[in-house]
Amino acid sequence: MRYFKFKGFHLLIFFHVLAATPVFSSSDFSNQLSTNFLDIAKKAEVFDWMVKIRRKIHENPELGYQEFETSKLIREELDKLGIPYKHPVAVTGVIGFIGTGTSPFVAIRADMDALPIQELVEWEHKSKVPGKMHACGHDAHVTMLLGAAKILKQHEKEIQGTVVLVFQPAEEGGAGAKKILLAGALENVSAIFGLHMLPNIPVGKVASRTGPIMAGSGVFQAIISGKGGHAAIPQQTIDPILAASSVILSLQHLVSREADPLDPQVIIGQAAVQRCNATVIFHGEVEPFYPPTVNNGDLHKLFQNVAVNLLGTDKVNVDMAPFMGAEDFSFYQEVIPGYLFMLGMEYNSSEPFQSLHSPYLKINEDGLPYGAALHASLAATYLINYQQNVTQLG
Ligand SMILES: *[C@@H]1O[C@H](CO)[C@@H](O)[C@H](O)[C@H]1NC(C)=O
Ligand SMILES: *[C@@H]1O[C@H](CO)[C@@H](O)[C@H](O)[C@H]1NC(C)=O
Ligand SMILES: *[C@@H]1O[C@H](CO)[C@@H](O)[C@H](O)[C@H]1NC(C)=O
Ligand SMILES: *[C@@H]1O[C@H](CO)[C@@H](O)[C@H](O)[C@H]1NC(C)=O
Ligand SMILES: [Zn+2]
Ligand SMILES: [Zn+2]
Repeated sequence: MRYFKFKGFHLLIFFHVLAATPVFSSSDFSNQLSTNFLDIAKKAEVFDWMVKIRRKIHENPELGYQEFETSKLIREELDKLGIPYKHPVAVTGVIGFIGTGTSPFVAIRADMDALPIQELVEWEHKSKVPGKMHACGHDAHVTMLLGAAKILKQHEKEIQGTVVLVFQPAEEGGAGAKKILLAGALENVSAIFGLHMLPNIPVGKVASRTGPIMAGSGVFQAIISGKGGHAAIPQQTIDPILAASSVILSLQHLVSREADPLDPQVIIGQAAVQRCNATVIFHGEVEPFYPPTVNNGDLHKLFQNVAVNLLGTDKVNVDMAPFMGAEDFSFYQEVIPGYLFMLGMEYNSSEPFQSLHSPYLKINEDGLPYGAALHASLAATYLINYQQNVTQLG
């Protein structure tokens, strides 16, 4: 997930766009898994194993496209589970396969990268790498996907197709998802599911919505130049701070004016009003623009069905307010039907709230079985539903 940021002396502007809501048809599901994967995920054998993995990854956070040790850990666990995989995909990515090895294919995805943030939580398993931290919970994401892999492998005979495990690099700004797609790794996949942990939803609860759930985003650089001088004779100076402030204000008005936020003229024009020059530079290669995350309507029905069955109606919010972070999961959704949901991993509601990307972020490991079970149930149920449709169509 990505947020607004300032860098150096230059003004970096981060903007968000929400897409229009597409319309989808609806359908009912009668199929259910015969096994409750949540019961399995909560067993000490699975839970303790996940906690160990999560703490190990948390202690050794790696930034985007540098997840070498994390990738190695994943492959070692897959080896132990007897799960075949492709590697390297998109530098450090790992793609695993469980099931028949043939069509239909459904993917479940976890991002692996950490952030350039110094962890400020004092605990036994604090980050051992100065200036790096898993402050977005991707350590838990990797762990829960491995948890799902373990559960699905135990029930491989019941899988009516192939579950594709996607361990992707560089979600935070590096568009790892795009690289996974370019590598052709998801060529024959007909749907993809992903989750993001949230520190302000209690353990055992989930939230999502159909249609747009997260914003699009992009970063560009605006260099505004003025002319220095003595504060006592301001008439001989040109103040870039004033111009920058005016640019920021006018960008705030973009939504109501419906101007194209990618149009550099907005910034250059506003700077000129204050007699300053502005240059706008887009870093599309380094910091790609993320499209909005838009959830598929059919997959929303399936999610609702699976989550309510596993957790109970009161634990499933199917109409959460969209929020303004961005996710590179959206790249998958541009190519295949995809669904992203939010998983509760609130640490302790009595303590002050710490957002994602906070150096004080703490996550509740009791949420791990829920993520693992949901991943596994969504994938397995999708395949059952797919096969039922094929049978019905004759
Ligand atoms: C996708 O399916 C085609 C046709 O069966 C096959 O040639 C190709 O290798 C598959 N791609 C992947 C990534 O599995
Ligand atoms: C803006 O650009 C013009 C033309 O290049 C130049 O003459 C002027 O000095 C510049 N002004 C500032 C404040 O940089
Ligand atoms: C939750 O936070 C409160 C206030 O800081 C504290 O008193 C309590 O012990 C904490 N509970 C847990 C389970 O950590
Ligand atoms: C099965 O068919 C129904 C009705 O057309 C559709 O809504 C659903 O998404 C299909 N499921 C899969 C997995 O393709
Ligand atoms: Zn993030
Ligand atoms: Zn994230």
